[in-house]
Amino acid sequence: MLSFRYAALLGLGYAAAATQTVLRAEEDPTDEFRVVQSSVSPEYSVRIREQNDSICNAGSVQYTGWLDVGPKHLFFWYFESQNDPVNDPLTLWMTGGPGGSSMLGLFEELGPCLINEYGNGTVYNPYGWTRNSSMLFVDQPVDVGFSYIDEGYDIPGDSHVAAVDMHRFLQLFVSEVFPEKLGVPFHISGESYGGHYVPYLGAQIIEHNKLYPNEPQVNLKSCLVGNGAMSPKDKIFGYWETLCTTNPGVAQPVFNETRCDIMAENLPRCMELADVCAQNPDPAICHAAGVVCYDGIISFYDDESSFPGGRNRFDITIPCAYDDLCYIQGALIQKYLNSPAVWEALSPPKEITEYKVVSNAVSDAFDLTSDTMTPSTPYVQYLLANQIHYLAYQGNLDLACNTAGNIRWSNSLAWKGQAEFSSKQLTPWTSVVNGKSEVVGSTKEVNVRVGGSDKIPSRFAMVTVNGAGHMVPQDRPDVALDLMVRWINGASFN
Ligand SMILES: *[C@@H]1O[C@H](CO)[C@@H](O)[C@H](O)[C@H]1NC(C)=O
Ligand SMILES: *[C@@H]1O[C@H](CO)[C@@H](O)[C@H](O)[C@H]1NC(C)=O
Ligand SMILES: *[C@@H]1O[C@H](CO)[C@@H](O)[C@H](O)[C@H]1NC(C)=O
Ligand SMILES: *[C@@H]1O[C@H](CO)[C@@H](O)[C@H](O)[C@H]1NC(C)=O
Repeated sequence: MLSFRYAALLGLGYAAAATQTVLRAEEDPTDEFRVVQSSVSPEYSVRIREQNDSICNAGSVQYTGWLDVGPKHLFFWYFESQNDPVNDPLTLWMTGGPGGSSMLGLFEELGPCLINEYGNGTVYNPYGWTRNSSMLFVDQPVDVGFSYIDEGYDIPGDSHVAAVDMHRFLQLFVSEVFPEKLGVPFHISGESYGGHYVPYLGAQIIEHNKLYPNEPQVNLKSCLVGNGAMSPKDKIFGYWETLCTTNPGVAQPVFNETRCDIMAENLPRCMELADVCAQNPDPAICHAAGVVCYDGIISFYDDESSFPGGRNRFDITIPCAYDDLCYIQGALIQKYLNSPAVWEALSPPKEITEYKVVSNAVSDAFDLTSDTMTPSTPYVQYLLANQIHYLAYQGNLDLACNTAGNIRWSNSLAWKGQAEFSSKQLTPWTSVVNGKSEVVGSTKEVNVRVGGSDKIPSRFAMVTVNGAGHMVPQDRPDVALDLMVRWINGASFN
């Protein structure tokens, strides 16, 4: 098993031109990485080392390392599937932000190990998504988490640059680092600002596969995004329904009539300006639209949120427990990933002095562009036109990327499946919770053939989860795992 893994790891027998060296950091002779030099470009290489359950109680084979793409160095943590590592799919996870580390997703939500209550170790997560898929967690864009960029280069400020870097990463990962993964189905998952990252990356992969059929192809099959930021306009529109009705599954609306009236009155102007921004995505125009929408609608909740005891943008039913991320886990993860034991195991290069769960430099860079105010809709349309399935799943108690807004977005998405999708009602779906079948949310979907009769139908689905906020796998881990496994296996929700 071990020797097979190493052979696979080094790309032996696949990339004949790949060369292999062992890099030793000068300070520490035990600090060994295997280095895979790309056969495609001398600028590309991977530093990788195997980890064990001492830093992440995962229950399957795991590796960490950096992929070097010129001046950009992307950190990854890779876990094999606990079920059938040879044949199970490979799924990428990207946390949102912009600027959030994917270690948040790993250690707080769906990784095979979760941060413990003291922030000094991990516990095995029986609902980790590695149960039925190999999982790859990447800190991206560069400068997020353990990823870094050489001095003198610009930090990425939009989803397109991020997608180009991530595509390069994935291409090397499946062709030269783990070439046996070239054939298995590949899925992209993410959350929140992942509603931008995921479709941009998916479209980049498909476009590149078409343009360069002789290069290694990333075998993309589907995208799945939890509480995704696909459309800022619809999300802002959804603030009213989320705060002023009982539709999220609350007994009383969060806001009173006075506030709801003001928000309703301000909405049309915000909608109009959001359209102007989408049609003329100049940063100054989009910034102006953002200010009008913030002041007129968003501020009433968000100004009272994101501090301990304040409102929680990720769950309208509970107060914010900690800093602006609202959950204590973010701070515990940051503490843990900066601990000597983890630092020794990961061996970050000297360019990294501290691990942070959020990169302010990346969120600042995105603020200077129109990225956060423009929808990722054209990329979702492109994916559906190319037989890539798309799932939007939604925790119903979230405000930041609320269900109301994303249902509105999914109905208004212009593609061949729109007429059928928008004419359907959401119907309840059930999952087994504590041994009993239970209604856990609602769902609707269409499977529509786009293009010739030889094409497989594109699947577009909306699945909601009751009693869950922004981070569905954290709030309802068993339901989230069921949802994920059904989706990647093409199973129905009804
Ligand atoms: C973590 O902290 C708790 C409480 O202080 C302690 O009991 C436990 O031994 C610590 N575990 C490790 C691995 O250091
Ligand atoms: C998921 O993995 C379990 C074993 O952990 C296996 O019994 C089950 O059949 C797998 N499900 C799918 C759909 O592959
Ligand atoms: C409505 O809510 C706001 C904010 O909580 C509060 O200041 C205001 O007094 C409330 N108005 C009424 C009529 O209850
Ligand atoms: C597990 O990894 C740690 C950190 O890299 C290392 O110190 C330890 O020797 C490893 N344990 C085993 C059993 O390989």
